[in-house]
Formats: sequence, C-alpha cells, structure tokens
Amino acid sequence: MVRETVLDPMDMIYPVFVDETISSKQGIESMPGQFRLPLSDVVDEVCELIELKIPAVLLFGIPAEKDDLGSSALDDEGIIQRAVKAIKDAVGDKIVVITDVCLCEYTSHGHCGIVDGKKILNDPTLEQIARMALSHAKAGADIVAPSGMMDGMVSAIRNLLDEEGYQDTLIMSYAAKYASSFYAPFREAADSGYAFGDRSSYQMDPGNSDEAIREVELDIMEGADILMVKPAIGYLDVLYRVKTTFGMPTAAYNVSGEYSMVKAAAMNGWIDEKKVMYEMLLSIKRAGADLIITYFAKDIARYLEGLDG
Ligand code: PBG
Repeated sequence: MVRETVLDPMDMIYPVFVDETISSKQGIESMPGQFRLPLSDVVDEVCELIELKIPAVLLFGIPAEKDDLGSSALDDEGIIQRAVKAIKDAVGDKIVVITDVCLCEYTSHGHCGIVDGKKILNDPTLEQIARMALSHAKAGADIVAPSGMMDGMVSAIRNLLDEEGYQDTLIMSYAAKYASSFYAPFREAADSGYAFGDRSSYQMDPGNSDEAIREVELDIMEGADILMVKPAIGYLDVLYRVKTTFGMPTAAYNVSGEYSMVKAAAMNGWIDEKKVMYEMLLSIKRAGADLIITYFAKDIARYLEGLDG
C-alpha cells in the first residue's frame, strides 16, 4: 500500500536490431536471449511487444554497405527506413517507433562521426545526422534518438525537421551519454566496434556530473523533448539530478553490459535473474526515470503480468 515506486510495462522501451545481411534471426552471443532480426521478422516482433503492453520500440540498423561517411544511413530505402515503414503499415500508432540516429553502425571505421585521420569531426557530422533523422521521419518514425553525442546535434535535427514539415516528430536526446565500458556487448550486437581510438573525445567522462547538467541544459534549449542518461545503473545519481533539476520527461538506458552481467551471473547460478532484473529496473525508476530502455523489457513485462517467475 505504501510502496512509492511501481514498475509497469508502459515504462519500457525495447531495443531491436534489424540486420540487412541476414534472412533468419541470429542470436547475439554476448547478450543471451537477444537477437538480430531480418526485416521480415520485425513486424512479428513488434506485435509481441504490443501484446505485452510495451509502448515503444527503439530500432538499430545493421546495413549491408558501410563507408567512411556512413552514407547508407541516409538512404530512404535503407534498412531502418524500410523497417519503420513496415511497422507503421502493419500496426500504425499501436506502437511508438523510435529510431537510433548515429553513424557508427554505418561507418567503415565504426565512429559516430565523420573522421579526419584519427580525429572525429563534430561540425561536419551534424548535417549528416540531421539528414539521417529526416529520412527516418519521412519513413514514419515518431521519435528520432540521436546517440552520437555531437555538440549541436539536437538543433541541427530540429531545424531540418521543422523546415521540411516534420514539426511533430519528437527528439529523444542521449543528452548525458558517458564513454562507458558497459557498451561492449552492444558493439557485437550492432557491429559498431571502432577501428581506432575510443569515444572519449565525444562521449562524457564518467567522473563528471556537473557537466551532465550542462549537456542536458544545452539539449533542452536546442529543442529536445525527452532526455536520456546512459548508462543507467552506474549513473543513478546523474539521473536523479537530471530529473529533479529539469523536471523533463527523462529516459535511462539500461545498457548491454548491465544486461549481460545479470545474464552471466544468473547462468552461473549466482543470482536470481528475475529478482535482480526487477530490483535493477525498480531502482532506475526510483532514481527518476520515466522511461527505461532495456533488453529486459519483454521479460519484465511477463514478470509483472505474473506470466513468468
Ligand atoms: C551508438 C550507440 C551505442 C549504444 C547505443 N547507441 C554504443 C556506443 O556508443 O558505443 C550502446 C547501447 C548498449 O550498450 O546497450 N552510438
């Protein structure tokens, strides 16, 4: 009766990897229970989410072609654009479609921006990601989610969307995204490992929290509709500060490494997977998340419905 925080499937967003190069679903080794899907499986997956009362899907694309500029990300017939159209044609507004807007899955070097030698260039990347976002909006995406941590990405996207008549497409910004080692399994999942260096010239230093507030404030001024803190578990203090400081819709990304650690420990019989999953997601919500992006979305929905565990 007096519990302050209650989890609901409606809080969850499920990440889905759509792979242009496969014809049947493929398990992701470092993320047991997660898969890359061919385009032909995407609508079925989304129908399962709707049945579980999960309100939104976050789409990541693995293209057949990669190059230095990530050109395939901007193709109106690209893998994500086709996936969005297929979902919207099949189920319309029964699910909110969010697309990841970042070049790292589409560039041959695996970085989130255009590079010059070993340097990642901020400003030349902005036009590229704005055009990528526009192409997703044209396909029917409800929300675009820029995850590359380029300065000015939110305003570049907002301006182009508005100019082209997509005022109603929302932006969920990865506003405080840390250069974290917890993303390692994702890079296998999305085939976005990088050829050199790391992401610390554009993602945040894990030691900084005041900087996160400044990053978030900039994104709000640039027009972000939903803010995100990522990763979640190691950064609950940042999440709490962001939510209490701005009172904006706030999402937290329960990232791949957080998922895989729970899975690995559970597979060894060291922890109770379902209870740890529940406690972890409950803690993220208690710290201030309105929305939780999690690979556990389907499992927690079943657990909360009493269908499992
Ligand atoms: C791409 C991106 C990453 C994740 C989401 N979008 C990887 C990265 O920044 O290297 C990580 C998600 C996860 O670990 O679950 N920019």
